[in-house]
Amino acid sequence: MNHFISIKKIQEYFSSSITSGLFNTIHDTSAVFYDFNHLFYKIELLSKAFPENTFHTTAIKANPLIKVLHEIKKIGFGSEAASEGELFIAQKAGFSNDKIVFDSPAKTHKELEYALKNDFHINADSIMELDRIAKLKESVKSKSNIGLRINPQVGYGKIKSTSLAGEYSKFGVPLKSHKQEILNCFKKYNWLTGIHLHIGSQGCEMKLLLNGIESGLKLIKEINELLKTDDREVSFIDIGGGLPISYYHNTKPPDIIDYGRKINDMLTSYDLDRLQIITEFGRYLHANSGFIVSKVEYVKHYEESNTLIIHSGADILLRECLNPNNWFHEFSIFDKAGRLKQNSETKKYHIAGPLCFANDIVARNIELPVANEGDYIVIHDTGGYTFSMWSKYVSRLFPKIIGIKNDSYELLRKREKLTNILDYWSD
Ligand SMILES: Cc1ncc(COP(=O)(O)O)c(C=O)c1O
Repeated sequence: MNHFISIKKIQEYFSSSITSGLFNTIHDTSAVFYDFNHLFYKIELLSKAFPENTFHTTAIKANPLIKVLHEIKKIGFGSEAASEGELFIAQKAGFSNDKIVFDSPAKTHKELEYALKNDFHINADSIMELDRIAKLKESVKSKSNIGLRINPQVGYGKIKSTSLAGEYSKFGVPLKSHKQEILNCFKKYNWLTGIHLHIGSQGCEMKLLLNGIESGLKLIKEINELLKTDDREVSFIDIGGGLPISYYHNTKPPDIIDYGRKINDMLTSYDLDRLQIITEFGRYLHANSGFIVSKVEYVKHYEESNTLIIHSGADILLRECLNPNNWFHEFSIFDKAGRLKQNSETKKYHIAGPLCFANDIVARNIELPVANEGDYIVIHDTGGYTFSMWSKYVSRLFPKIIGIKNDSYELLRKREKLTNILDYWSD
């Protein structure tokens, strides 16, 4: 299987949805397609790559669709929640409490109490949060596994805005300056049993991710040495997510099997084979598993430029529009019946979204077969960090999301109605 959904499959999914009426060519000016077959393929590779006792979770923020989470739950994976809302979603999707990891830098007293009472796995983001947990544990009975997030400070990846292990990060306890405080916490709190880190999301090469994990393992060796006299040791390392994917179809992404093997080798070389690994992949599981279809509403031909106005812009492709130097997708063009256009005649187009602001441009100067009003632009590899970052700016309707499992199609989310918009902006 390729690392992306093939154009042949996309054509099959799109044209079948038109024929069945699931994609309504009058009302659905855009839609997202999500391919469970691709997700299952990614899950299979991930499971193969890591030791059997690894606790894999999906980062809900990448793709919070209940039906997607439900399928992931059925496979035995857990979920990583980064807010009260995501905790609620995780429980509604059916994850048992011991399969929910709660990460967030802004957990309130109330949220922590709820997490402790429900025995969620909790990663504290700071020493201040650990102290809050300690206070709550005086009155709340809990079986929660608790870890502490560190910032291993191993450096930035290629995309600064999604790099979290530079000298400064708003997340985690900085390791270089606060190692002693971290050690003290493990000595002081006998319920603190793990280390959490997340180096960044996309743009971080495997070497940087491995450097971060190695810093975590070295720290765990020191903690274990300190805890020897108490007959305790660190039981887990949560390595976060962050393995980059490829948004280019002719460029292979880093190999997850190789990543898993290297982590395993490190555990062995530090004599830490007993340590349980927790993962929190988001982009790796979801981004290549979906695509957006968006109608060409207008074709604007001017002497100096050609612009296609489509129905997906910064509302669904926030990073791509605001930070186009770092975020890019491949595009294809389909006709009204959902057939791939492969005309030999091509043109350079800007692809612009429907919002009222200048940066609402999804791509600039890309070469495509000649486009007509009513054609559809396919934006590839948009199954993660797209609709989950949806913006209500200009009050447009959230698009329909169509899922494909084996050969069957189902609605994963309805297209919003105008009344939903009214509800959103009403008291
Ligand atoms: C704490 C944490 N874990 C996991 C993830 C998922 O990262 P990715 O989607 O790059 O795998 C993120 C995303 O930023 C995160 O902040």
